[in-house]
Amino acid sequence: MKKVVLASGNAGKLKEFGQCLTPVGIELIPQDQFITQEVEETGLSFVENAIIKARYAAQMSGMPALADDSGLEVDALGGAPGIYSARYAGSSLTGQYKDAANCAQLVKDLAPIPSAQRSARFQCVLVYMRHAKDPTPLICQASWEGMIVDSAKGEHGFGYDPIFQVLEKDCRAAQLTPKEKIAISHRGKALAKLQKALAEI
Ligand code: IMP
Repeated sequence: MKKVVLASGNAGKLKEFGQCLTPVGIELIPQDQFITQEVEETGLSFVENAIIKARYAAQMSGMPALADDSGLEVDALGGAPGIYSARYAGSSLTGQYKDAANCAQLVKDLAPIPSAQRSARFQCVLVYMRHAKDPTPLICQASWEGMIVDSAKGEHGFGYDPIFQVLEKDCRAAQLTPKEKIAISHRGKALAKLQKALAEI
């Protein structure tokens, strides 16, 4: 198994990545084995933030690193929360509390918007760096279209999944099993591209 550091402290992401990369011989090591404090995401785009996170994890661990920068774009809010998705309701909360607060904030901000106009999409950018000074990192990107709804449903997934209505399945993302979600999600599609790119290097 090839060991790669996953540049994320998000347990939900670690689970989703594990199910795709373990079968292709990649063992993901959580970055908290090397890093006590997460690097500041100072970029203005998903790709910049993913590069910052991958480079920092590679630097601190001395190993290849994989970073994901992802988020939700809501059309009626001009693309917000976008790169600020993780801290939409404030940056002091963590884990489930943070997810619940972010969902509640979004439902509140969309209250004046009719349900038919609540189109949204998840974006995912993956960056794989062979080492901290890798001048040609692999970059893969994908998105997943849906609608934001008021009532939360489902107990799988993380983040905005309970209020993200999946167009392909007519249910919330949080009602999909991990296997069903990764088959159609932004992260699953970006990972499929990454698997292909990794096989070519
Ligand atoms: P990051 O860790 O800075 O990339 O923040 C990503 C944030 O976007 C997460 O904390 C979630 O709020 C949201 N997000 C990204 N991907 C998903 C997903 O698959 N489901 C639900 N929320 C997601």
